[in-house]
Amino acid sequence: MSAGFQSSAHPFLDLSGKRALITSGTRGAGAATVSLFQGLGAEVLTTARTKPEAVSPSLFVAADLTSAHGCATLAEAVNERMGGVDIMVHMLGGSSAPAGGFQVLGDDIWRRELDLNLMPAVRLDRELVPAMVARGSGVVIHVTSIQRQLPLPEATTAYAAAKAALTTYSKSLSKQVSPQGVRVVRVSPGWIETEAAVEFATRLAAGHGGDIAVGKKMIMDSLGGIPIGRPTTPGEVASLIAFLASGRAGSITGTEYVIDGGTVPTV
Ligand SMILES: NC(=O)c1ccc[n+]([C@@H]2O[C@H](COP(=O)([O-])OP(=O)(O)OC[C@H]3O[C@@H](n4cnc5c(N)ncnc54)[C@H](OP(=O)(O)O)[C@@H]3O)[C@@H](O)[C@H]2O)c1
Repeated sequence: MSAGFQSSAHPFLDLSGKRALITSGTRGAGAATVSLFQGLGAEVLTTARTKPEAVSPSLFVAADLTSAHGCATLAEAVNERMGGVDIMVHMLGGSSAPAGGFQVLGDDIWRRELDLNLMPAVRLDRELVPAMVARGSGVVIHVTSIQRQLPLPEATTAYAAAKAALTTYSKSLSKQVSPQGVRVVRVSPGWIETEAAVEFATRLAAGHGGDIAVGKKMIMDSLGGIPIGRPTTPGEVASLIAFLASGRAGSITGTEYVIDGGTVPTV
């Protein structure tokens, strides 16, 4: 039986014939997910504001997803180029809020965090999930963050609250559309060692006269430590997403998968 799972004729994960939209696919965990999905046979479309040279125009749509117009442009391109989607991975998210606690978070910052972390998923789902429901199949994956259950008040209040809103929205959507054949799942990463994270750790370390290992330790300490002693890699996040998007996860919906090396200290 295990030989069947391993054989190259019947790979454990197979996404061939699936049309996938993956937002934020030019860097970090998004780029790793695009590359893994392609390797597993999916037809992928991805998006960001700027197309890197290495990314083929055939799989890319330029759009700023913080606006309703950007989301509408992307949804239109998805329908035109692929005739709809079978898998949607909402990877977009992040924060540009300043440190300084709740007092420094004006309405403009709150709006920006919600526009980046909540509204693109809400808008794209509204455009693209109805066709999945009509077909009776589809998978929607919302990428949240452990910050939603482990906010850091100095700098991540608005980001954490926006991810918490995304979490609740995702659960509600799953209740509505799972009976119609569409699975909705959350992936909640802890610290991911993306290119941006490496740059940040290097800058942090330089400020304290240390090397990147010092910077990484400072970040891990700020999270209360990571039991496995290292951040998660973008490839590990991509692997979890690919499994959840595949038929292997056919009974999984409405739940959240934390991938954080054990960072969240409670059950
Ligand atoms: N990194 C972590 O430690 C960590 C931890 C927990 C959760 N997460 C979550 O994991 C997900 C991936 O994070 P990441 O760190 O891998 O991403 P990242 O490396 O910061 O990549 C950002 C991507 O988003 C695109 N992007 C940024 N603003 C955009 C906009 N307004 N419209 C469209 N695209 C935009 C960027 O391209 P352009 O700049 O060209 O637009 C790029 O492709 C996010 O949801 C994040 O919240 C990350």
